[in-house]
Amino acid sequence: MKRLAIVGALLLTACGGATKPSAAPPPADHAAHAGHHGHHADHAAHDFADAAHWATVFDDPARDAWQKPDEVVALLAPGPGQIVADIGAGTGYFERYLTRAVGGAGKILALDSEPAMVAYIAQRATAELWSNVVAQVVTADDPGLPTAGVDRVLIVDTWHHLPDRARYAARLAAALRPGGTLAVVDFTRDAPMGPPVEARLDAATVAAELTAAGLTARIADESLPHQYVVLATKPTR
Ligand SMILES: C[S@@+](CC[C@H](N)C(=O)[O-])C[C@H]1O[C@@H](n2cnc3c(N)ncnc32)[C@H](O)[C@@H]1O
Repeated sequence: MKRLAIVGALLLTACGGATKPSAAPPPADHAAHAGHHGHHADHAAHDFADAAHWATVFDDPARDAWQKPDEVVALLAPGPGQIVADIGAGTGYFERYLTRAVGGAGKILALDSEPAMVAYIAQRATAELWSNVVAQVVTADDPGLPTAGVDRVLIVDTWHHLPDRARYAARLAAALRPGGTLAVVDFTRDAPMGPPVEARLDAATVAAELTAAGLTARIADESLPHQYVVLATKPTR
């Protein structure tokens, strides 16, 4: 429980705070951090430069119990040979699951606006023999994906960071192949971890944003304790 609180406090800072935590992590108390948190655009500029530090947070084995990566990937349902973009890939937590799902004939585009994160994933891909993972730096407002170029898009704990979500959603809709699926995973308002409450978006809002971009969106039925999953599919015609 105590460990969960500490991880929660770290993720609170990771997803909403202005700086990485000091040696003594802050309490998992959003009110105590209100002064550090601004509007959504500010979140894109948060300090994710110390990738080795964030790896201890994002890749903490204790995360698996509540993140349920196998369930998340099963909902996204990438298949062998497919191209998947993981946007805001961080330290590559989801890459081991995605690379397994698409196999050697597939490709994972691990995209992040923080160059240190991308360098970290590139090194990790070499070390872990993820031969189909390509790590790339992207700008905060554009994933840089080709039109109808990807089968699946995964965005975990990152949607609330985007400076212009409507424009970004339109870009993702264009990047998906017909029948392709996108999953947005983010913290619920009452989760004991995540960005400050005022920066959180509820699942219905995310679904509406994706619907406005021309995708068919729905809130997934899942068992994650602290997050929701919104799935959005590009119509085939
Ligand atoms: C809270 S971390 C989540 C990392 C990863 N998805 C995970 O679940 O472990 C958010 C990540 O999104 C990245 N990020 C923030 N804004 C972004 C943007 N506009 N485009 C791409 N990446 C972004 C950050 O650099 C950071 O690595």
